[in-house]
Amino acid sequence: MIQVSHLSKLYGPRRAIEDLNFDVKAGEIVGFLGPNGAGKSTTMKIITGFMPASEGTVTVGGHDVAKNPIAVKREIGYLPENPPLYMEMRVREYLEFAAKIHGVPNKNVKSAVDWALEKTHITDVAHRITGNLSKGYKQRVGIAQALVHRPKVLILDEPTVGLDPKQIIEIRELIKSLGGEHTIILSSHILPEVTATCGRIIVINRGRIAAEDTMDGLTLKLKKGIVFSVLVKDPRADGIEKVKSISGIHQVSTVGNKLVVQVKPDQGELRDQIAAAVVGSGMGLLELTAERVSLEEIFLQLTTEEERTA
Ligand SMILES: Nc1ncnc2c1ncn2[C@@H]1O[C@H](COP(=O)(O)OP(=O)(O)OP(=O)(O)O)[C@@H](O)[C@H]1O
Ligand SMILES: [Mg+2]
Repeated sequence: MIQVSHLSKLYGPRRAIEDLNFDVKAGEIVGFLGPNGAGKSTTMKIITGFMPASEGTVTVGGHDVAKNPIAVKREIGYLPENPPLYMEMRVREYLEFAAKIHGVPNKNVKSAVDWALEKTHITDVAHRITGNLSKGYKQRVGIAQALVHRPKVLILDEPTVGLDPKQIIEIRELIKSLGGEHTIILSSHILPEVTATCGRIIVINRGRIAAEDTMDGLTLKLKKGIVFSVLVKDPRADGIEKVKSISGIHQVSTVGNKLVVQVKPDQGELRDQIAAAVVGSGMGLLELTAERVSLEEIFLQLTTEEERTA
């Protein structure tokens, strides 16, 4: 549903993101996790067509964001970092406006707004002036405007920021319930947020993807399961199977002619066995190195931040 390839953004001489590559499948909920300034919002602004990339491409539902921004915007609901609210409008009025500009036919506007109000638990403030609402309620109105036209894709930049603990749980439940039917990317710099809602997590740090995995996979990496990068001449399927079948191997993935071999924690090195399997299967060993995973460092940052906000 969403394809991001070789995406970079320069603000003047400053590189905010560099060579990001990832796909999001229809119905998936993916979380961008990263510390302040990592590049989460920048990436979201480019995906939604609100800002051009410096290099690289993004397609949403097959449309190139740069070439066909109107078609992409029709498919997307976007909650920016600073929700685009009209403070002098009443909540219902504003959501009706948001529904119309997203192309909801007039006869369906009322039911669409009622649905969005109900989903975000703001029906009881529908008649109020948006500017007078508390911060948490404003945030929910922001989420409601992203949802109101029932877009295929939802991009939510820190959806639960400013909400109280009860509201946080409600919004997480809402996001989870929208997965499957909607394709969702959300961002957060708190770990429990993404673990509670996302099937897959993309860890972004200093403008680069530091890791991309399920929570279980990330946990394994954090437990210091070693990761080997194995360069081979010929990455054949039977050879890869042979490496996978070594006891103590968690996962083997390929990037071009590189095998990324993840060892389960507490299994020792397995370097010899991996080398033997590669050579024995005739793939041709060019290089075998242990990867330095900087994840621990990032998570340390993230978790200290979490303690501070808690
Ligand atoms: N308009 C801008 N002009 C110049 N630099 C910018 C601009 N917007 C963002 N940046 C820089 O780009 C980098 C990435 O910022 P971005 O807002 O994408 O981070 P983020 O991951 O969303 O952080 P946060 O968790 O604080 O929201 C930062 O170094 C930031 O200072
Ligand atoms: Mg941000």
